[in-house]
Amino acid sequence: MMKNDDIEKVKKITRKIEGFLTEREGELLFSLAKDCKGQGVIVEIGSWKGKSTVWLAKGSKRGKKAKVYAIDPHTGSSEHQKQGEKIWTFEEFKKNIEKAKVDDIVVPIVKTSEDAAKDFEEKVGLIFIDGAHEYELVKLDLDIWFPKVIEGGIMAFHDTTCWPGPKKVVEDFVYRSKHFKNVDFIDTITIAQKVEKNSLKDRIRNNYILMLKNLFESVDRIRLPRIMRSLIKRIIKLLH
Ligand SMILES: C[S@@+](CC[C@H](N)C(=O)[O-])C[C@H]1O[C@@H](n2cnc3c(N)ncnc32)[C@H](O)[C@@H]1O
Repeated sequence: MMKNDDIEKVKKITRKIEGFLTEREGELLFSLAKDCKGQGVIVEIGSWKGKSTVWLAKGSKRGKKAKVYAIDPHTGSSEHQKQGEKIWTFEEFKKNIEKAKVDDIVVPIVKTSEDAAKDFEEKVGLIFIDGAHEYELVKLDLDIWFPKVIEGGIMAFHDTTCWPGPKKVVEDFVYRSKHFKNVDFIDTITIAQKVEKNSLKDRIRNNYILMLKNLFESVDRIRLPRIMRSLIKRIIKLLH
């Protein structure tokens, strides 16, 4: 069981870090990292200023203390670069990691996911993918990191309900794949456990969760008072 005071402390720290993660998503990353069995390291693709990195690292510290490899060229994604100014997030990332006292467990790799994967020899127990959001690049992240993930390891993808690229990749190659079971989603994150081959029961369940995910997303398109939408979303969550 995760201690509530742990979570409250991480919330306090991460609230001060600019980023793109809900607290529920942060708690999910914390608990996935805490549950790592120590047979593989933790990898993060896309760290920005370290918000998700801190959640992962704090969770790992409560568990088997697997290293967290934080991979990011720190020059931003296309959606950030459009703003016209030069982006360099590494200094702020380092400062936030040190301030959160997780610099002993976080290993920054200032490269793109593709470059980092070329000479990455460690086995991966958990990977969180939140780098470039274009369909081809999310698919590339899945393809190059999947072979490095251990059997039973977890792959997690951010922005799979709202961004067309990650959404389509997980729907086509995770929810409908024969190599994942226990697929689920919390807020915008989809998680899945790698298996050599899933069973028919796993595939039925994965498709059922995909149907719930589609239902969950469609609630925002219906013209209803906010309170009604949040009530329907709560009911959908109870159906997991
Ligand atoms: C949405 S931000 C990540 C947010 C972060 N996970 C958080 O919780 O605050 C996306 C990050 O991906 C990085 N990025 C873009 N292309 C990348 C690539 N090919 N490989 C690794 N990281 C990439 C960008 O530099 C940016 O920092």
